[in-house]
Amino acid sequence: MEPRSASWLYVTLCMMSLLAQGFNNHPTSSLPRVQRVKRGWVWNQFFVLEEYTGLDPLYIGKLHSDMDKGDGSIKYILTGEGAGTTFTIDDSTGDIHAIQRLDREFKSQYVLRAQARNRLTDRPLEPESEFIVKIQDINDNEPKFLDGPYRASVAEMSKIGTSVIQLTATDADDPTYGNSARVVYSILEGQPYFSVDAKTGVVRVSLTDMDRETRENYTVVIQAKDMGGQLGGLTGTTRVDISLGDVNDNPPIFDQRLYQMSVPESASVDSEVGRIWAKDRDVGVNADMTYSVIDGDGRDTFGIATDSSNRYAIITVKKPLDFEAKCSYTLKVEGANTHLEDGTTLSDVTTFSDVTIVHISVDDVDEPPVFDAPAYLLEVAEDADVGTLVRMIAARDPDGDNNTVRYSLDRSSDPDKFFYMDITSGALMTLRPLDREQLAWHNISVLAMEMNNPSQLSSVAVSIRVRDVNDNAPTLSDYLEAYVCDGARAGQSLSS
Ligand SMILES: *[C@@H]1O[C@H](CO)[C@@H](O)[C@H](O)[C@H]1NC(C)=O
Repeated sequence: MEPRSASWLYVTLCMMSLLAQGFNNHPTSSLPRVQRVKRGWVWNQFFVLEEYTGLDPLYIGKLHSDMDKGDGSIKYILTGEGAGTTFTIDDSTGDIHAIQRLDREFKSQYVLRAQARNRLTDRPLEPESEFIVKIQDINDNEPKFLDGPYRASVAEMSKIGTSVIQLTATDADDPTYGNSARVVYSILEGQPYFSVDAKTGVVRVSLTDMDRETRENYTVVIQAKDMGGQLGGLTGTTRVDISLGDVNDNPPIFDQRLYQMSVPESASVDSEVGRIWAKDRDVGVNADMTYSVIDGDGRDTFGIATDSSNRYAIITVKKPLDFEAKCSYTLKVEGANTHLEDGTTLSDVTTFSDVTIVHISVDDVDEPPVFDAPAYLLEVAEDADVGTLVRMIAARDPDGDNNTVRYSLDRSSDPDKFFYMDITSGALMTLRPLDREQLAWHNISVLAMEMNNPSQLSSVAVSIRVRDVNDNAPTLSDYLEAYVCDGARAGQSLSS
């Protein structure tokens, strides 16, 4: 049977009255319960408040047929959503009650069907009719910040009014009815630095010149209150941790106007002499540095580089050092920020740099003796007498104190003791007769050491070639004998 406008279905619009009076503690009997629904009204809706807490079942409405004489011959039947479980009907009187607590946020309406039948014959007396029980909202849900707590960041020195983050509180109550879901935002903690827009929940900067280097982190507590913020509204709060982002508003500064460093003269090229740092109160790229030597007598001898963290200057040796030649250098070093804010002008560029002086002293190192040649190539005649001077070898201590040098031969390089080295003069002499035909080269090592410090020892290669002297007459006889045949005549060619 098609549901149609059912003239037989009367409803009680008790809920409107309930709303007007407050719904708690109303004995159902005292409610103004029956109102005849006029044609043209939305006749088939019942309204009932959610979360009824009374002890008696909540009266919802009444089915009534005009044919009902009140003698119990009509049986009212309720079917549809929640019939028998959530809603019950007195089949004689047609009174409908809710026997379960109703929660609009769980289910906001129920579609039910009403029938009126003859109790004896079970014949329908009225066409089946559909109606809806709508659950009316009460403010039983507080606003909730579902994504909180929040983190946000805003650049330091931002203008007042700069938006930081927008918060949204969700209220499960009915947004289309009353103010139960109408949320207003306020700030409980975090003033005077930040504010919140009551309507939109946008958190904004509310103090000028907030400086990250002074204070970086702020805790802001935001409250959302429903009922449009009015007294009695339910509240929810959340925390926003706001950090100030860095901008390059601090110049780098060397903490010393003069740095002292020292380096041994033996330091190899590219070795590190020392580090200096122009400190910058900013962080990240805003503290990145680049360094250069802009002046000073050491600019050709020392180099400068920036370490991999872009913070420190590394001063290195660029050319070999010699204490005896120059023992002190000065560098004028500039450190500059590499990253400047957009719109930085030329005058700012010099603001974001600093200059310092680095004084480098070269330390004397006790160096071993140095020979007057890197290697020696000498010659001696093979018939030279024992004691012949081959050469005077000379070495000197390069250090300032110029220690006396002592000479010797590396014995392993002259195992057969052909040569003799005079310990004080450096005179290299023959000790035995030489024979080029036996040994054409004597390649020996000469040692020089500082007299008072034998650990300062150096050696040099000396190659002595034995010069040929015509001391061996050709002795062909041995060969000739082999070829002289018996009976050969004088003058006969041997090769024929
Ligand atoms: C000795 O030194 C000379 C010149 O350096 C070289 O020609 C020769 O081969 C060397 N002899 C030996 C045995 O090392």
